[in-house]
Amino acid sequence: MKLTVVGAGNVGATVAECVARMDIVNEIALIDIVEGVAQGKALDLMEAAPIHGFDTVLHGGSDYALTEGSDITVITAGIPRKPGMSRDDLLKTNAEIVGSVTRQVVDASPNTILIVVSNPLDVMSYVAYMESGFPSQRVMGMAGVLDTARYRAFLKMELGVSVRDINAMLLGGHGDSMTPLPRFTTVGTQPVTNLIAEDRLEEIIERTKKGGGEIVKLMGTSAWYAPGAGAAEMVEAIVKDSNRVLPAAAWVTGQYGLQDMFIGVPVKLGKGGVKEVVTLDLNEKEQSDMQASGAHVREVIEAYERIKEGQAA
Ligand code: LAC
Repeated sequence: MKLTVVGAGNVGATVAECVARMDIVNEIALIDIVEGVAQGKALDLMEAAPIHGFDTVLHGGSDYALTEGSDITVITAGIPRKPGMSRDDLLKTNAEIVGSVTRQVVDASPNTILIVVSNPLDVMSYVAYMESGFPSQRVMGMAGVLDTARYRAFLKMELGVSVRDINAMLLGGHGDSMTPLPRFTTVGTQPVTNLIAEDRLEEIIERTKKGGGEIVKLMGTSAWYAPGAGAAEMVEAIVKDSNRVLPAAAWVTGQYGLQDMFIGVPVKLGKGGVKEVVTLDLNEKEQSDMQASGAHVREVIEAYERIKEGQAA
């Protein structure tokens, strides 16, 4: 089993580190336009192998020949947010980067599964899908795992329980329009709505929605530990064919009343990628939040299409 991680920045390096420490793939190729950084980080991680006790071999560089025959590819390439920027502000630059990266990845590994992490996430997944020509099962975006992790971390801070006993699901685009679902959140099998008052839960949900921005404000750049761990968890589910139900940006064909876009939905993840988009029974409010989120993702897709038309003209 071979994994490629494109982008040896903070997120890419964290994905490589997390997956290496799981010791579940034979090889990881770490690719970056800055050759020395990719090579250096891969070597540094290899040198940590005897301490962590993993046998995964890491290679780094800027030549896509290194990525040949990858089973899974995580794309983290692109610029991160600076304070005051929304994820959508990254659209033009990152669409070009993700488009070009996807073409090079696909040439070297025509059978790979693509996990996109670059922002704006839902639309970058769409770009990778269009550029790759892959079946939708083999293209997905990582955001829901990160957003639910943030939500579960905040619930843990609030209640002092183990994160292992907090189960949560969240739908919608990766941005302020995401739709956390308190009705589908349990703490040690109890509905969270029995444990936290409605207004306090609303505050926690608001913090979750702005969780990425909270980190950008603190650090001047975007997060990497939780995003990297999130992508690694998806890689693990695919490698182990574990059929985990995780939120991910997936191609929808009418589920939740949405189609022709990538948006956060629960998916069954295992060998071959997305095995199924899971449909939850939403109430009216949840359904209308999901529609609003879909409308936002559609706007960004349209902005992307306009940029592309402008370039073609
Ligand atoms: C975040 C960025 C990575 O949510 O989208 O932190």
